[in-house]
Amino acid sequence: MKIEKVGVVGCGLMGAGIAQSCAQSGYQVVVSEINDDLLNKGLGAIKKTLAKSVEKGKLAKEEEEAIAGRIKGTTNTKDFSDRDLVIEAAIENMDLKKKIFAELDGICPPNAILASNTSCLSVTEIASATKRPDKVVGTHFFNPVPVMALLELVKALTTSEETLSAVRSFGESLGKTIIVAPDKPGFIVNRLLGAFMLESIRMLENGIATREDIDNGMKLGANHPMGPLSLADFVGLDTMYYIAQSMYEELKDPKFAPPLLLKRMVTAGHVGRKSGKGFYDYQ
Ligand code: 3HC
Repeated sequence: MKIEKVGVVGCGLMGAGIAQSCAQSGYQVVVSEINDDLLNKGLGAIKKTLAKSVEKGKLAKEEEEAIAGRIKGTTNTKDFSDRDLVIEAAIENMDLKKKIFAELDGICPPNAILASNTSCLSVTEIASATKRPDKVVGTHFFNPVPVMALLELVKALTTSEETLSAVRSFGESLGKTIIVAPDKPGFIVNRLLGAFMLESIRMLENGIATREDIDNGMKLGANHPMGPLSLADFVGLDTMYYIAQSMYEELKDPKFAPPLLLKRMVTAGHVGRKSGKGFYDYQ
């Protein structure tokens, strides 16, 4: 199956990045949000990133306009009725994702592929909300999507080889390197990255080291582009918390139990860069 028209549900950090990457690779994209404010915020973030690339001389002005012209924002899910592939990038909540997939199943053409950008939830369970579980797959992108070279595909128990192959070709057309993970908690990347980042929070919580020493240790001693606490702020502490909670619930392995410090910070609304405060201040 050839994918030409793409839909993205959610225009937050990940949804906006996915929509931008698709449009940059020539796809016509419809991206939805639940209200005009969130939609305008997401579309504004895409425009800002594209304008920066023009400023740096990395993108021609005409190309910027062409990319922006391929992205249509909407608050009406019915606008997905002609899409070949719809990628859901909502928050990590199973009930919400199932509701979105059941709705998309009723709106999208029967041969359309429905994908979830979930970072940890079971794609098999999400697929069970549809009458096309063979056409449901996980497409786990990494933040910032236009920059990160990886696309982790998640094969649900029900995903057909045809679906996987179509989504693999699509991912490669975005310039991504593909890895395929089983539908197991955290897939490949977050099973490793989650354990590492949660341990860094526990080290801070237990007074083993300062935030600067933890981050510099991994930046300068292991050549990571960001230390784990800076990365947690970048990903969003709310997302980190959902990932930890869902992995702990499924695996019952204490290394994935959300640290209390993380829980308290999320409760306080200190969820990282997007809120202006996390392990560091961004005011
Ligand atoms: N959107 C688009 N492009 C962006 C961007 C964004 N939000 N942020 C940075 N960029 C681009 C810049 O424009 C620049 O492009 P250029 O090289 O063409 O000029 C390039 O990225 C490098 O940016 P900067 O020079 O501003 O800054 P850095 O060199 O410090 O790089 C970074 C920024 C790319 C974010 C780098 O620090 C990095 O790679 N950090 C680690 C990111 C990471 O690990 N992401 C994965 C998180 S886990 C995840 O997403 C999974 C989920 O399930 C939790």
